[in-house]
Amino acid sequence: MAIAAGRHPAWLPQGAFRPVGSRRVLVRGSGPLVDTVVAEVAGACARHGGTARHLPGPAASGPAASGEGGDLVLALVPGATELGTEGFALTRGDGRVLVEAAAGAGLLYGLFHVVRLGEGAFTGPAGDGTGARGRVTERHRPAYDRRMLDHWDNVDVHPVMGQVERGYAGGSLFWQAGRLRPDLSPVRDYARLLAACGVNAVAVNNVNVHRTEARLLTDRLADVAAIAAQLRPYGVRTHLSVSFAAPMLLGGLPTADPLDPAVRAWWAEATRGVYAAIPDFGGYVVKADSEGQPGPFAYGRTHADGANLLGEVLAPHGGVVHWRAFVYDHRQDWRDRRTDRANAAYDHFAPLDGAFHEAVVLQVKHGPMDFQPREPVSPVIGAMPRTRLAVELQVTQEYTGQQRHLVHLAPMWSQVLAFRFGTAPDTSVARSAGGLVGVSNVGDDPFWTGHPLAQANLYAFGRLAWDPQADPATVLGEWIDLTFPGAAGTGADADLRATVHAMMDRSWLTYEKYTAPLGVGWMVTPGDHYGPAVDGYEYSPWGTYHFADRDGVGVDRTVATGTGNAGRYPHPWSATYEALDTCPDELLLFFHHVPYGHVLHSGRTVIQHIYDTHVEGVEEVEATVRAWRRPGVAEAVGADVHARVLERLREQVRSAREWRDQVMTYFFRKSGVPDAHGRAIP
Ligand code: GCU
Repeated sequence: MAIAAGRHPAWLPQGAFRPVGSRRVLVRGSGPLVDTVVAEVAGACARHGGTARHLPGPAASGPAASGEGGDLVLALVPGATELGTEGFALTRGDGRVLVEAAAGAGLLYGLFHVVRLGEGAFTGPAGDGTGARGRVTERHRPAYDRRMLDHWDNVDVHPVMGQVERGYAGGSLFWQAGRLRPDLSPVRDYARLLAACGVNAVAVNNVNVHRTEARLLTDRLADVAAIAAQLRPYGVRTHLSVSFAAPMLLGGLPTADPLDPAVRAWWAEATRGVYAAIPDFGGYVVKADSEGQPGPFAYGRTHADGANLLGEVLAPHGGVVHWRAFVYDHRQDWRDRRTDRANAAYDHFAPLDGAFHEAVVLQVKHGPMDFQPREPVSPVIGAMPRTRLAVELQVTQEYTGQQRHLVHLAPMWSQVLAFRFGTAPDTSVARSAGGLVGVSNVGDDPFWTGHPLAQANLYAFGRLAWDPQADPATVLGEWIDLTFPGAAGTGADADLRATVHAMMDRSWLTYEKYTAPLGVGWMVTPGDHYGPAVDGYEYSPWGTYHFADRDGVGVDRTVATGTGNAGRYPHPWSATYEALDTCPDELLLFFHHVPYGHVLHSGRTVIQHIYDTHVEGVEEVEATVRAWRRPGVAEAVGADVHARVLERLREQVRSAREWRDQVMTYFFRKSGVPDAHGRAIP
C-alpha cells in the first residue's frame, strides 16, 4: 500500500511504516477491514524487511492473545464489546505492541495509531506518559460515531463556482466535466489518508444540488456506488447531498410537499434503490430553503416536517439525514438594521428542539454567520438539547485565505469545541454535538490541498473529530513528524519541526490581524471572497455589514439597542456579550457598534488596534517567509513542497500588504484619527 506516484504521500509516506514494516507482525481475525489491515502490514513488511503473518481465526479474549508471537500483534477480539466497533486497546512495553479490537475498523485505526507513534511505539516509555516500565494498556475510542467530510464537488462544471465550489485544490477527486472520473484510484488513496486521521464518512457532492447532481440519487446511482467501493475498504461510508425537490425533478410529481403521501412514497422507493446499490450507504445531506435551494417553506411546512420525512425513510436502512441549519434571508435590505442574519438559524430551529426524528442530525455551522475567521459560537448548538446535532467546520479555507495563505485552523476549532454554554463540562460544544462535519479542502491537486501545509488542516479535522480535546499543537506535531519523517530527529531536522511549528501554531491569529478586525468579518471581495474589499458587502442583500461611519464601527447586536442576538445566548454569555465592559475584545465589533476611541481591555483604542494589528500581521507573514527560506528547510521537506509553499507564501505577503493598506486607509479616511506611532498610511 502506498500513495500512487505523482501525488504527495501526505501523512503516509512510506517511511512512516518502517517501524511496523521492519518487525514481525501478526494479524488475527477476518473480515473486509481486517483484509485491509493485512494488506497494509504485508506491504509495509515487504518494503522494510519485516515479516507479516495472518491467522484468520479470532484471538481469544484477554491476555491469551498477547502470548502469541510477534513484535506487533493486531488481533480481533470479538468479545471486547467495550471498545465499540471503532475503538482499540493498545498494550505496549518491553519492545512489543498488542492491538486488540472488537471489529475490523478498530483494528485499522489501531494500526494507524501504531504508525503515528512510530519507533516510539516499540522502544519508547509505556504509553501512559509517566515513563513507567512494563506493559501498559491504553484504550482509544472516537468521541463521535460520525466524523464526516462534505465535498462541495459539482458533477458538472458550474458556470460560476467551477468543478468544486469553494475548492482551492484543483478539480474534484470524483467528478470531471459532468462524468465520474475514469480512474478512481486516487479516491482509494484518499480514503486511506482519511482512515489514518480518523474520518469515516464522506458526502460526495455539493450541498447546492443542481440538475445533474440531483440525478445521482436515481439514474446515476452507479457512479456513487463506484465511489463507495473505493472508500469502503478503509471504513469510510458514502453520503449523498440530495435536492429537496427531487420528487419533482426526478419523479415527475407536481409537488415536493413533505406531508404529501405520494412524495413520501417516492422518497421511500428512491431510498430503497440507494440501499440496494450501496448497502452500507450513510445517508443524505440536505441544504433546504437556503441560498436558493428548495425546501419545505414552499409548502408552508416546517424544517422538522421536511427533515423527518427523510429521517423516516432512511431509518429502516440504518441511515441518517444531515439536515443543515444554514437557513437565512439572503435577499435582505441593507437599510433594515433590525434583521440580523446571525439570528436566523436560531430563530428557525431552536423552537423545533425535540421535534426531529431520531434519524435526523441537524448540521449547524460553528458560528452564527458563515465561517468567518472569528465568530462567536452559534447559539443554536446550546439551544437544542433534545436534537441530534453535528457541528460543521470549514476545512476548505474560503474565508481564511483560500489555501494561498498559510492558516492552521485547528486552534480555532479547538477553541470552538471547548466553548461551554454553561459552567458544567457537558455544556461544551464538543459534548453538545453528536458528530463533526468538515467541508473538505481536497481536490485533484498533486499535494491534495493546493497549499501543501493545508494538509495539516485536514489531518487536524480528523484528529479533533476523534478526540475534540486533543491539543492542536500536539496534533500539528504529529502531522509534522509523519509528513516530514526525520523532523523530530536531532540537528537540522529538529529545527524543521520547530520551524514549522513557529510558522503554523499562531497563523490563524496572524491572518485575523491583517484582515477584518475584532470579529466584525466580511470585508472580503464579493463573490470569490478572496482579498480585501472593505465595503464590498456593505450595501448588499446578504446580511453581512460592518456599519462603519465617521464615528465608529461594528454591529449592534445587543438586546438593549440592537438586533437582540446577544440575548439568544444562555446566561452568563447573554450578559457577557451584551455589556461593553465584559464583551471579549476579539468579538467586540460582532456585538457592538463603538466609537473609534473606545478603549479595549488591551488598553488600546479600537482605531489604534486596527492600525497596530494590521502592521503586525504583515510583519508576522514576512517572518514566516524568512523561516521557510532558512537553510536546510528545502532539503528536509523536499524541493517540490518547498517550492509550492514558497510560491504561496509570496502571494500571502502580497495579499496581506493589500489587506493592511486597504483596511488602514479605509479607517483613517473614515475616522480622521492618525496613527499614534506616526506611521504613514497610504
Ligand atoms: C457559503 C459559501 C457558499 C456555500 C454556503 C453553504 O455561503 O460561500 O458557497 O454554498 O456557504 O454553506 O451552503
